[in-house]
Amino acid sequence: MTDETLSNLLHEERRFPPDPAFAGAALAQPELYQQAQADRLAFWDEQARALDWTTEWTQTLDWSNAPFAKWFVGGTLNVAYNCVDRHVDAGNGERVALHFEGEPGDTRSITYAQLQREVSKAANALLGLGVEAGDRVAIYLPMIPEAVISMLACARIGAAHSVVFGGFSAEALRSRIDDADAKVVITSDGGYRRGNPSALKPAVDAAVVNTPSVKKVLVVQRTKQDVAWDDSRDVWWHDVVDSAEDVHQPQAFDAENPLFILYTSGTTGKPKGILHTSGGYLTQAAYTHRNVFDLRPEKDIYWCTADIGWVTGHSYIVYGPLANGATQVIYEGTPDTPHKGRFWEIIQKYKVTQLYTAPTAIRTFMKWGDDIPAQYDLSSLRVLGSVGEPINPEAWIWYRKHIGGDQAPIVDTWWQTETGAIMISPLPGVTTAKPGSAQVALPGIGIDVVDDAMKPVPNGSGGYLVLTEPWPSMLRGIWGDPERFKETYWSRFEGLYFAGDGAKKDEDGDIWLLGRVDDVMNVSGHRLSTTEIESALVSHPKVAEAAVVGASDETTGQAVCAFVILRGDAGYDESQSEAVIAELRNHVAKEIGPIAKPRQVMVVNELPKTRSGKIMRRLLQDVAENRTVGDVTTLADSTVMDLIKKGLRAG
Ligand code: WTA
Repeated sequence: MTDETLSNLLHEERRFPPDPAFAGAALAQPELYQQAQADRLAFWDEQARALDWTTEWTQTLDWSNAPFAKWFVGGTLNVAYNCVDRHVDAGNGERVALHFEGEPGDTRSITYAQLQREVSKAANALLGLGVEAGDRVAIYLPMIPEAVISMLACARIGAAHSVVFGGFSAEALRSRIDDADAKVVITSDGGYRRGNPSALKPAVDAAVVNTPSVKKVLVVQRTKQDVAWDDSRDVWWHDVVDSAEDVHQPQAFDAENPLFILYTSGTTGKPKGILHTSGGYLTQAAYTHRNVFDLRPEKDIYWCTADIGWVTGHSYIVYGPLANGATQVIYEGTPDTPHKGRFWEIIQKYKVTQLYTAPTAIRTFMKWGDDIPAQYDLSSLRVLGSVGEPINPEAWIWYRKHIGGDQAPIVDTWWQTETGAIMISPLPGVTTAKPGSAQVALPGIGIDVVDDAMKPVPNGSGGYLVLTEPWPSMLRGIWGDPERFKETYWSRFEGLYFAGDGAKKDEDGDIWLLGRVDDVMNVSGHRLSTTEIESALVSHPKVAEAAVVGASDETTGQAVCAFVILRGDAGYDESQSEAVIAELRNHVAKEIGPIAKPRQVMVVNELPKTRSGKIMRRLLQDVAENRTVGDVTTLADSTVMDLIKKGLRAG
C-alpha cells in the first residue's frame, strides 16, 4: 500500500482515554492481557471454567490435525443448561432473560425460570417429532422469543440448528436445508415488518417440496394470517410445544458436538455452511460478551439489534448473553416503525445499558437527524458497540456524542461468522479509543498483518489481516466440504488463518480494518481502500452515506466511483448538483490526496444493501462500468438498483 493510502486514516487524531471512574470499576483490567500472554492455553482454561462442565477436559487444545481444531478435549457439557438452567439453580430464576418488544407494540418479559420451562417443552416436542442428537434442524423465524427458545431446544438435545435469516428467499432456504439435510424446519406464519404482517410459511412450503430430508414443519403462530397446511407434515407450535412436558433432563454432550451451522456467502459459488461446536464456542462467546461489554448481569439491560439469522445474533443475543445470565431486549421490527425514534424509545423504556449495533444503522440515524435521539433519555447507556464493517470516524463521533452522551466508551468489534466471537476490540475502561480503529486483539487472541510474502508489516504499513493462533470459537470447518475449508482460509499463508480483510498497523501498532481485500482498488498502481474514500466522503458535512467502487478505466487501471446520499438538511437541490459534486471530489482530494479523487460522484437516494446491511458494491460497480446490473436477489430491496439507474439518467 502506498503512503498516501495509509496516511489518510491517521488524519483522525482524536483520542478518548477511559473515564477514570469507569476504568477503576471495569470488569476487564489491563492484567488480562498479561495473563493471556503468560500462558495462553491456561488463560483459556480459566475462561472455560466460567461455564458449568459435566466432565472436565483432559487437553485444552488438540491442534495435531491442523487446521481442524479440537478444544477442551474430553470435556462434556450441555450448552442450554449453561444458558438457562444454571442461572435458575443459582437462585436467579426470577431475573428477566428476555424483554421482547414486538413491532406492533406487544411485549413479553420472560424470566430465566420461564425460559427453562419453555426450552424444556420445545426440547420434548422436538424429540417427539423424531429429532435426535446429531440431527440438524432448520430455523426460519422472525425475531420473536420462539427463535431463541428453538435454538436452545436444539442445543439441549444435541441437535445442530441452522438458522436461515427470515428475509432469505425460498430458494436460498431450500439450498441451505438441503445442504444440511435438516429433518425439521421451525417457522411461523409470518412476522411484522414495517407495520405489516409479512409471510414466512409460503417460502417454507415452496422450499420443502424439494427437500426430502424434511419430515416435519413446526409452525409458530405470530401474525394469525392464513397459511396453507399439509396435515401429514405441518404441526402448530401451540399444539405440540405448549402441551409438552415442561421438565427435560439435559444430557451432557462432547465439547466438540456440533452446535450450529450458519451459512455465509463466499466470494464465489454456493454459500458456505460454517460449522461451530459447543465447549470452545460457548467459552469465547461468554468471555467476550462479558469483557467487551463490561456486563453486570445483576443490573444491566443489554440490547443487540442484530437478527438471530446472522452470527451476531447467535453469539451476542443467544449464546454469550444467556451464558452470562444477562437481561436483554429483543426487538422484532425495523428502526423506523412506527417512527424514526423507535430505537431510542426502547432504550428509554427499558433503561438499556449496552447497545450493540452496526455502522450502517448509525449512519442512517445520522441521516435522519440529531433531533430524533435528542427527544429521548438515553442516559442509561454506558457501553456502545459496533460490528459488521469498519466504522468511519465521523459515525463513531456521532454515535458517542448523540447516543453515548459524550461519555460511553465505544467498542468497535471485529470478527466474522467464521471466528464465532469477537477477536479484535478495545476493552472499555482499559483502551484509549481511536475513532475508526478496532485497535487490539482481545487477550488470548493472536493476530498480525502480513504482506504478500507473509512477512509481518511494520507499524505504519498495511497488508492482510491474519490470525496466528487457533482460538476456542473458531469454525471447525465448512459443512460437508473439508477441502474448501482448507483452501479458503488456510492456503494463502501457510499455518495462518487468512480472514480476507485488509488492515493496517498505525504508528502504535493499533489495527485499522480497511475492508475486504476484494474491495481494494488499484488506481494508477496505487492501492486505495474503498473504506478510506467512503470515510473521507462521509466526513463532509453534506454527506450522510457513501459507497465507493473501483471501475475499470483505460488509463488508470481502475478509477474511483462514488455513490453518495446527501444529508436531509444539506439544503441540496438538483440545480446545484454540479457544484456539490465538484465540492465532494475536491474534499476527497483534500482528505486523502489527488490520487483518491473520484472520477465520478453520483448523488443517489438509496444504496443497494443486503438484508444484513452490507452495501453490495458489486452492483454499483456494474452501474459505474455501464454494464447490465447483475444478480440482485440478495438485496433487501431489489428495486433499489432501478431507482439508482433511473435517478442517474434523469440527473
Ligand atoms: C467485516 C459479522 C471492520 C469484515 C460479525 C469481516 C468488520 C466481515 C468489523 C465479517 C469491524 C466485521 N470493522 N470490519 N468492526 N466487523 N467486519 O461474517 O470484513 O457477517 O470479514 O460477521 O465483516 O462479516 P460476517
